[in-house]
Amino acid sequence: MTHVGLDIGTNYTKATKDGKNVTIFPSIVVYGEEKDWSLTGQSKDVYVGEEALSIVQSLENVEALRPLHEGRLIHESYIELARHALDVLKVRPKVIATGLPVKSSKKEREELAADMKAKLGVDVLIFPEPVGTLAYMGLDTGVCVDIGFGTTDMLVLSRMEYLKGDTMLVGVDWLFDNIEVLIRNKVGITLTPEELTKLIVDESYEVGRIRSGKRITIGHGDIAEEYRKLMRSWVERIASRVKLMLEGLSTAIVDNMVLTGGGAMLPGVKEEFENAFREIAEIKVPDDPISANALGYYRLASAVVGELKEPEEEIEEKSVEKEEISEEEEKKRKRKK
Ligand SMILES: Nc1ncnc2c1ncn2[C@@H]1O[C@H](COP(=O)(O)OP(=O)(O)OP(=O)(O)O)[C@@H](O)[C@H]1O
Ligand SMILES: [Mg+2]
Repeated sequence: MTHVGLDIGTNYTKATKDGKNVTIFPSIVVYGEEKDWSLTGQSKDVYVGEEALSIVQSLENVEALRPLHEGRLIHESYIELARHALDVLKVRPKVIATGLPVKSSKKEREELAADMKAKLGVDVLIFPEPVGTLAYMGLDTGVCVDIGFGTTDMLVLSRMEYLKGDTMLVGVDWLFDNIEVLIRNKVGITLTPEELTKLIVDESYEVGRIRSGKRITIGHGDIAEEYRKLMRSWVERIASRVKLMLEGLSTAIVDNMVLTGGGAMLPGVKEEFENAFREIAEIKVPDDPISANALGYYRLASAVVGELKEPEEEIEEKSVEKEEISEEEEKKRKRKK
């Protein structure tokens, strides 16, 4: 039975059909408008992922839909992204395992599962987001903090059972909003999150726009110092909410304290977290914090699908045993003859 691990985030959609390779594209949907001219002869109703991103980055004032906003779900674009992920993976799975923010409502989850069943013909397993990373790391007990673009999700798991958790409406977007204001005040241009990430991560990156007949560019060095300051107060804010959640917990649970999500990969974030939790525990980060949830959902789906399969396999195994016994008996019978 084919299954897929699918993590539709505010910023990136990640999907895997083999638990090893992860396809990543921006979670953006743009509905096409009729153009005066089409030189390629192609015009589509809906653009998804990289194609949508290039439209948004080349033209200002195009409305880009992202599936999650402030931790809430926008169904239509969510389904478009899921469909696109399956097209890219070239797979028609029976089961999709996915995640939603810890504080998403039960109603929201039920509606999403029903919608995906109706429109994509799949059964859906939905987990609280950070569980994906813990499953990927093979941990059934621990704490996981997932700093995504739109939300920071945190939870405590004990023997694969949810103990408590929280969703903060503060993700990388809070940091980026503040940096964007700085850039707008300095040079008057607006950047996409994808461009801001490159500006922060890549020291040689430069980005620009034409503004009032001039070429305006901004580089890593122009924002590096302000980034450090903002990042520190951002981590402090998230860390104090995590500490609130940890209050009163057994130290045995906190021994596995994991930091995941793309936010964990931004420069200096892991170090600031280590400082904030020095007295509590060592911080672990998965090898690929952006893909870890999708890979974990895949693992969890494999376990569920495996359980569903078991009765059939057992029957097969028993019949094999029977054949072996009967061969033995045959031999005995022959020997007797
Ligand atoms: N090397 C990198 N490449 C891409 N993104 C990176 C990188 N390093 C850090 N990031 C950050 O990771 C963020 C995306 O993280 P992630 O994919 O976990 O968020 P999400 O799952 O889309 O959001 P959410 O979970 O809140 O819905 C980007 O906004 C970016 O700033
Ligand atoms: Mg995420």
